Amino acid sequence: MPSLVFAAPAKVNLLLAITGRRPDGFHDLVSVVATLDLADTLEAEPAAEFSLVCDDPELTSGPDNLVLRAAAAFRRETGWASGVAFRLRKRIPAGAGLGGGSSDAVAALRALNQLAPPDRRLHLPGLTRLAAELGSDCPLFLAEGPVVLRGRGERVEPLLPAEVARLRGRRLLVCKPAFGIPTPSAYARLAKGAPGSYWPAAEAEAWLARWRADPAAPAEALLRNTMEAPAFAKFPALPELLIRLKAAAEVEGRMSGSGSACFALLPEGMPVAPLLDLVRTGWGPSAFATEARIA
Ligand code: C5P
Repeated sequence: MPSLVFAAPAKVNLLLAITGRRPDGFHDLVSVVATLDLADTLEAEPAAEFSLVCDDPELTSGPDNLVLRAAAAFRRETGWASGVAFRLRKRIPAGAGLGGGSSDAVAALRALNQLAPPDRRLHLPGLTRLAAELGSDCPLFLAEGPVVLRGRGERVEPLLPAEVARLRGRRLLVCKPAFGIPTPSAYARLAKGAPGSYWPAAEAEAWLARWRADPAAPAEALLRNTMEAPAFAKFPALPELLIRLKAAAEVEGRMSGSGSACFALLPEGMPVAPLLDLVRTGWGPSAFATEARIA
């Protein structure tokens, strides 16, 4: 059987409102997330055992990799005893808030569900539950295109076609400094923050509803991320670069998710090369910087 190939797209949070801490230690959020044409590639081939080869030496290829965790969860859930040899080609930087690991895990679930015999396959609700167990950011990758997330990220609501049309195809600069921000520590900083560090759910919902109700409101009118304040206080290189982007090109940069990646929506005609240079000058030559589009 020839190997299957899946694209595992990156995401950015156009809106990320953390609305409060839950009794289970997670945080409730309201978010609008868009997947990008920037993607990892996952190849899957039937084999006797589960295995993973990853072209990024910085990432573990061991059982902690989300691809192999997804495979173990799929086996536990379905009882399917065969194996799959996975090859992962990384393009999405890790520790970035771009959802790379979560997206790889969902690509693995898709591959497993296609390779398993029909009586071992999961339907969408089962896949969604498994995805949510693997990570709060996983279920969104089972949907097509931009969606609204609620709960801890596991409740996924598609946007209406006219709303999707306002986002799809928009051009972005996506960039990340050499350092990443581990998600648990970002949430822990938020939980320790002063009163007022959360955005009340009713206000976040009103912000989203206003955007949805106005057919003329561009993607720019959605942009807000409540995780920026604690991240920017700890890592001044992030706001410093966004200030430079604004001064040089009049574009509004935002952090994605819990960081450290940032993005800016770009007008169509704007040359991107000077902006890529600006990122590498500000954050050093090992910074990640690329142009992408909302898928
Ligand atoms: O779900 P995931 O494994 O990606 O989450 C990693 C950590 O981030 C969690 O253990 C939790 O500390 C934090 N988190 C949170 N609220 C969310 C998502 C993640 O507190 N909605």
